[in-house]
Amino acid sequence: MLILNKTAGVFFKPSKRKVYEFLRSFNFHPGTLFLHKIVLGIETSCDDTAAAVVDETGNVLGEAIHSQTEVHLKTGGIVPAVAQQLHRDNIQRIVQEALSASRISPSDLSAIATTIKPGLALSLGVGLSFSLQLVGQLKKPFIPIHHMEAHALTIRLTNKVEFPFLVLLISGGHCLLALVQGVSDFLLLGKSLDIAPGDMLDKVARRLSLIKHPECSTMSGGKAIEHLAKQGNRFHFDIKPPLHRAKNCDFSFTGLQQLTNKRIMKKEKEEGIEEGQILSSAADIAATVQHTMACHIVKRTHRAILFCKQRDLLPQNNAVLVASGGVASNFYVRRALEILTNATQCTLLCPPPRLCTDNGIMIAWNGIERLRAGLGILHDIEGIRYEPKCPLGVDISKEVGEAAIKVPQLKIEI
Ligand code: KG4
Ligand code: ZN
Repeated sequence: MLILNKTAGVFFKPSKRKVYEFLRSFNFHPGTLFLHKIVLGIETSCDDTAAAVVDETGNVLGEAIHSQTEVHLKTGGIVPAVAQQLHRDNIQRIVQEALSASRISPSDLSAIATTIKPGLALSLGVGLSFSLQLVGQLKKPFIPIHHMEAHALTIRLTNKVEFPFLVLLISGGHCLLALVQGVSDFLLLGKSLDIAPGDMLDKVARRLSLIKHPECSTMSGGKAIEHLAKQGNRFHFDIKPPLHRAKNCDFSFTGLQQLTNKRIMKKEKEEGIEEGQILSSAADIAATVQHTMACHIVKRTHRAILFCKQRDLLPQNNAVLVASGGVASNFYVRRALEILTNATQCTLLCPPPRLCTDNGIMIAWNGIERLRAGLGILHDIEGIRYEPKCPLGVDISKEVGEAAIKVPQLKIEI
């Protein structure tokens, strides 16, 4: 049995009495027969400590999450050492809460699945070392999880979706378009050449000092932009979507961020205010940046749909586009993608917002998918390492660019 010694920050073997108390805290029913496979999923790749227990049929038996958003908002971004300490402080409680809520005994688990790539090294390390201790003590198989694979497969927990489907993953750390052909069979069609859209929104929100805005003070940057944009006028000023001439499926958001910064500086001068005060045109800026970002995302996704159909990688009718990741919880982006899927005879599917952002359920579900497919289930954990950088699937983005598909104009009027 695993207990975290908080002062030393290490795991140790507790006394028999402590083990008894720990087991009693789960309140499980001895003798209950579990016919389904059950996986405990653990996620610590960035700034959320999350865990969940999910069974083979997609039932979420228990879940718990500790978000660090508020702390990182105050420091103006994620400080890796702070994130690591917060993961250390919370991981045992979060895993315990998820297990207790599931009302199963840890011995009934079929496997433990944990994000080991990609992500912040210090954050990944906490989840991995905790999991390996647990795996060793419970003598369960270990399933290492690719964070983006987990985001991509979440939709198969909430909807009946067969392979192949197209996936758009847009979050704070990632931005990619991939064809999902199987549980761990991905073709990478395009990715961001610089920062991810969520990172761009977070930076713009910081530059606009939205943390001081009474309506947005506890929201992530992206959520704050979405909230304010509802009150703004996106026609207030015009920004050209990035990579206008590049006929591929890659993305870029740095230019958009810099143009927005310039616009903010100009407005500050006009309004006679200093950086750090809220602009009266903050909502208009939020609306414009959100709209331009959505148009860029739609254009690259449109090309990906056309490429896949041209190569018979997707069916001509009713192909599925899945959008996930934190930015896919944005309703303006979803609506823009819906306009695209309506125009291309595709179906847009998005997990509910709470499953778009990082969570333990997607990791546990990825574990179930891998258990069912018999892929990457480890009985020997010797030499397992986390990988801060790790591409997803086979990169065919060069081939996509060489196809140079022209995308017809699509009016994004929301
Ligand atoms: O998937 P996620 O929780 O973590 C990463 O893997 O990055 O995504 C977090 C990102 C943050 O950048 C946050 O600002 C953004 O997703 N985000 C949003 C919204 N909610 C979260 N962006 C736009 N609109 C939202 N409603
Ligand atoms: Zn994520």
